[in-house]
Amino acid sequence: MGDLFPALDPIPLPAPVWLLKSLHLLLLSLHFVTVQLLLGGLALAFVWSLLGHLRRDEKCRAASGELAGYLPVIVTYVVNLGVPPLLFTQVLYGVALYTSTVLIGAYWISVIFLLIVMYYMLYAATRRLARGRTWWFLSLASLLIVLGVAKIYSTAMTLMLRPEVWQAMYRANAHGTLSPPHDPTLLPRWTFMVCAALAVAGAALVVLSKRRIFSTELRDFFAARGGLLALVGAPLWLAAGFWVWHSQPAAVAHRLAEHALYPAVGLAWLVCVALLGVFGLLALVRKSRLPVALAVGVALIAVLADAAAVIFRDGIRDVTLIGKGFNLWHQPLEVNLQILIIFGVLQLSGLVVIGWLVATMARAKPVTEVPHDQA
Ligand code: HEM
Repeated sequence: MGDLFPALDPIPLPAPVWLLKSLHLLLLSLHFVTVQLLLGGLALAFVWSLLGHLRRDEKCRAASGELAGYLPVIVTYVVNLGVPPLLFTQVLYGVALYTSTVLIGAYWISVIFLLIVMYYMLYAATRRLARGRTWWFLSLASLLIVLGVAKIYSTAMTLMLRPEVWQAMYRANAHGTLSPPHDPTLLPRWTFMVCAALAVAGAALVVLSKRRIFSTELRDFFAARGGLLALVGAPLWLAAGFWVWHSQPAAVAHRLAEHALYPAVGLAWLVCVALLGVFGLLALVRKSRLPVALAVGVALIAVLADAAAVIFRDGIRDVTLIGKGFNLWHQPLEVNLQILIIFGVLQLSGLVVIGWLVATMARAKPVTEVPHDQA
């Protein structure tokens, strides 16, 4: 290991790198999908509740009222699908991740409090809606908090790739209140997540338009707006992806381009995002008449696009760290079969329970506490 990294934890990895990495990538893809649903959902809720308030537009009010019911649930998925990949990242890249998060410790720890405030505001919003009052400012404040949390995560995940700045940062300030020196890859990465949020939330709206619990008018509204969002979000997501690529140091870009896996993954991502745009156009034209199979296809493509992005992002990290002296695959390994089996069983049960929760949610009929005409 290079001199830039702290000495390795004496505890060897409990399972092969390929296994830890596969689970990490799977769960992180799901975390990204939920983060994008939250970001996109909040942006839509803000726009619709504001339009509903200013223009007295009933459809916008009703649509933002429906989203208000979904958002707190999405937050629980963001958090619960964030914890497992965090554990894997700590096991696999502990020396880098611990260092970067300690260096920006004040911001890192603030995420917990920011999330609590945001979560509270979403519940306060549903109470306001129940009393027929507007909530555009609560959705705006929540959106700003989530954008801020995303920035903190991007900062931590990019700082963990820069061991060359760690010592100077710590010498300058050991209280965790310092921002890292300028990094040309930070803004593209954050923008990538934000643009992805538009396209993925658009896909989610198209799926929502297939729920028969909504009126045909609202279903048409969801399908057309979702289609438009996917249509606009897809090229923006592609542009952000190219920006991420061009912001990488030449050596990293070169190693990725020469790699056996990453060019194919990059191409898969590109195709998925382009397809998302095409499906968006279809939904925009056909509205709620879009066949269910196509709506499900849109959702699947969005998830696949995220999975491809997560694998490529992982490649950027591995290649960057190898260039700086940390090779993930060279860490000491001591497979502990018992722990591995217990872990596997718990993990699988967790996924089954989450699947059951999602299915129950999809079947549930909303309690119509919110009088939409007053929202
Ligand atoms: C509103 C809340 C959250 C938002 C907006 C958010 C956003 C993000 C973003 C933007 C990234 C990618 C950063 C980058 O690479 O540039 C990320 C990665 C990540 N997030 Fe979240 N996140 C949230 C909550 C959480 C929570 C509560 C956890 C866990 C306790 C978590 C765990 C992770 C992990 C582990 C990664 C990446 C790990 C890796 O690079 O291997 N996130 N998140």
